[in-house]
Amino acid sequence: MEQLLGGARITYLGHATFRLTTAGDEQIIIDPFITDNPQTPEELKEVGELDTILLTHGHFDHFGDTIPLAKQTGATVVANFETFAYLQSQGIENAMPLNKGGTAQVGGIKVTGTNAFHSSSIQTEDGSTIYGGEPMGFVVEFESGFKLYHAGDTCVFGDMALIGEIYNPDLALLPIGNNVVMSPFEAAHATRLLGVDHVVPIHYGTFPFVPGTPDEFKGHLSDLGVKSEVHVMSPGDRLAS
Ligand code: NI
Ligand code: MN
Repeated sequence: MEQLLGGARITYLGHATFRLTTAGDEQIIIDPFITDNPQTPEELKEVGELDTILLTHGHFDHFGDTIPLAKQTGATVVANFETFAYLQSQGIENAMPLNKGGTAQVGGIKVTGTNAFHSSSIQTEDGSTIYGGEPMGFVVEFESGFKLYHAGDTCVFGDMALIGEIYNPDLALLPIGNNVVMSPFEAAHATRLLGVDHVVPIHYGTFPFVPGTPDEFKGHLSDLGVKSEVHVMSPGDRLAS
């Protein structure tokens, strides 16, 4: 796994939030739920320089610190069209719209929007809810050719096999929390459909409504005879070459 990364680093900030550092030292955060994320280690809450934010959907446990971070750092926020328009209305000038099927070069990485079956809305400060467009996952290709797939929040779906076939990710970051996202059982089937060699279970243990565990996930993988290597990351852990 480590050799595959080609100089990139992947740091787990807890829940569905990851910090990616490219070999060229670009800083990327997927779903910047940081300030109110009960899993994010205190010493990693200070983000510092940031080039890119990738946003899978508008729910609070993903959207999180997007607006203040974009304002502080000038990072480009990649989000679906509806969320892009909302960010623009909030004074974020560096937003980039990306919908499913599109691949955008964002600095040194290539980002593809993939399907995800879930919901999306954005809660505003006055408590009202804005339609967030459709949720997405992302395939991120680093300069070295290393590819990761962050599924976003989703159920399993048959076209995960298509994602595996046409993008061939090296590593999948898959929710296993159950109740509001895939169960460990579905995540094991997702791993099988994707055909990835490496998988990291995410989006569990944070709240009572995501009770799934890595042990359940491993049990289902074993039942299905799926040989992918499971990397259970604690918040703050990193994969690095
Ligand atoms: Ni969600
Ligand atoms: Mn979520």
